[in-house]
Amino acid sequence: HFDRPLLGKKIMITAGGTKEAIDPVRYIGNHSSGKMGLALAKRAAQMGAQVALVYGNISVPVPKNSQISLYPVGDAAEMLAQVESLFPDSDALIMAAAVGDWRVKEKADHKLKKQPGVDELTLHFVKNPDILKTVAAQKDRQVVIGFAAETNDLLANAERKLREKGADFIVANDVSGDAFGGDYDQVTILEKEQDPVTWPRMTKDQVAKKLLTLLANRLEKPVRE
Ligand code: PMT
Repeated sequence: HFDRPLLGKKIMITAGGTKEAIDPVRYIGNHSSGKMGLALAKRAAQMGAQVALVYGNISVPVPKNSQISLYPVGDAAEMLAQVESLFPDSDALIMAAAVGDWRVKEKADHKLKKQPGVDELTLHFVKNPDILKTVAAQKDRQVVIGFAAETNDLLANAERKLREKGADFIVANDVSGDAFGGDYDQVTILEKEQDPVTWPRMTKDQVAKKLLTLLANRLEKPVRE
């Protein structure tokens, strides 16, 4: 049991970026590669968990592993629907996906064409639902972990996300460097009523292992009301 501390646990992990369609051939996306989410999925499986991997646009191969069920999605609305449907049967959720905050207000049903003499295009956006916040509000026994991707005021922004999204933990990472797409990350762990703990820069696999150890310890504890 010592080397498989997540045995018998069902862990949902989201990875990669969402694609918000502009028209049938174009979309708004981001630079998430899926490496962090996939590192978490593989480590969680190694530690004994049954993993549901909900992933958007990724640039690395998905793991082939009987302990990891795969749920590919496109945009944020699809990711929300998939996460909500799996949540009641999960013991924990880790949201490592980079979810688009905005979607195009009126998606064109045909490819937008260049018009002679028109040199500008204006797109209107509307806010996407917040997946983490929506499902955290539906928690019974689940432990919910979010990430905070920041380029400035890391701790202040991450603390606000911890409060507003209702997560048990927030993993704050400074993404002004190579966190999007790279193999390394430097994170600070935030938890309600605890001092933030900063981990040294390490590989995403090492972050995954430490984070899942933290999660395993939390899942050991009886449910608090
Ligand atoms: O995929 P990689 O290349 O390995 O890069 C990893 C990463 C940098 C994408 C990852 O470490 C990371 O930080 N993921 C979260 C990215 C993000 O969307 O951060 P945010 O600060 O905008 O959102 C905060 C949290 O709310 C995140 O857990 C996010 O998944 C969630 N969210 C955000 C918006 C939204 N509409 N719904 C959400 O659930």
